Amino acid sequence: MTRKKILIIGANGFTGRRILNDLSLKQEYIVSGVSLHDDVAPHSGNYQFISADICQAGQLDRIFNDIEPDVVINTSALSVPDYCEVHHKEANLLNIIAVENLARHCQSAGSYFIHLSTDFVFGGEANRLYTEEDPTQPVNYYGYTKMEGEKLVQRHCSKHTIVRVAVVYGTALPGQHGNVLQLVADRLRKHEEVRVVSDQWRTPTFVGDVSLGIEKLIARAFNKTAPAVSSIYHICGNECLTIAEIAYRVATILGLDKSLIHPVTTQEMQEKTPRPRFSGMSTLKAQKELDYTPLSLDKGIKEMFESL
Ligand SMILES: NC(=O)c1ccc[n+]([C@@H]2O[C@H](COP(=O)([O-])OP(=O)(O)OC[C@H]3O[C@@H](n4cnc5c(N)ncnc54)[C@H](OP(=O)(O)O)[C@@H]3O)[C@@H](O)[C@H]2O)c1
Repeated sequence: MTRKKILIIGANGFTGRRILNDLSLKQEYIVSGVSLHDDVAPHSGNYQFISADICQAGQLDRIFNDIEPDVVINTSALSVPDYCEVHHKEANLLNIIAVENLARHCQSAGSYFIHLSTDFVFGGEANRLYTEEDPTQPVNYYGYTKMEGEKLVQRHCSKHTIVRVAVVYGTALPGQHGNVLQLVADRLRKHEEVRVVSDQWRTPTFVGDVSLGIEKLIARAFNKTAPAVSSIYHICGNECLTIAEIAYRVATILGLDKSLIHPVTTQEMQEKTPRPRFSGMSTLKAQKELDYTPLSLDKGIKEMFESL
């Protein structure tokens, strides 16, 4: 069997690095990673690393000509909602324009395009878990750019999958952004108080599960008897909780002082950027079609903090 060439964009990022590390352990893949800056962990695995700016069309041409990828996984994004809310041009460039260029390059090269997206494409007014068929209605600029990116992938690349993830958690490398679970643990360990919202619901995703879900998608894409690849999947956890409930779980599992956790409402938090009230996503489709089984939140938290 010929080894498939996998190109991971955003390979220094939190999710991209986990995928890079996991896939480069597999004999059946030849893995390359692209990121804006130099490799965050040089010589740490069996992959080729390229520093490049995917917003520069010429650089994308060169990468596709050199690698000729069978699969492209885009994990790059401007993904901080507060930043996107006031930096529309930058958000448009990476989350919309570069995504369209990637989709077009994948179409010309015949590559299977796996593009990461977010629960923040949803409006937040649901009273049940969102499915892949539900309409999108973002409430902030980040969500808007991700929704537009999704549409362009669907329009310009015939062989694609959009993978929506939510509150991705796991162990971060130095220089990578953390996540709310890490923030809560860090504060409580220093005996500092932490304010967390008690009326925003999410389905937190263990970073290793994103990587596993993507491996399943790749395996299916090259299995001649499997269904067509173009689709959307929710690859997240199976438990829907408020951010405050997530914080309490971290404290319980790590044996930290819960009295330092202060649940507050969205209104009390007074964040400048609106966020969906409820963006829990159903994984039923991924369970049925990909045999995707995420870790429980308790197991994910244990795995995250055991590896620190
Ligand atoms: N993290 C979450 O909780 C979460 C939740 C929902 C959805 N998502 C989605 O999941 C995906 C991954 O998120 P993440 O938080 O893991 O990402 P991340 O850690 O912010 O990483 C993104 C990476 O993209 C790279 N990048 C930025 N601009 C680039 C450019 N012009 N050219 C090449 N590379 C560039 C950066 O590379 P350098 O480090 O080299 O600068 C960065 O490491 C995104 O699509 C995001 O929208 C994430």
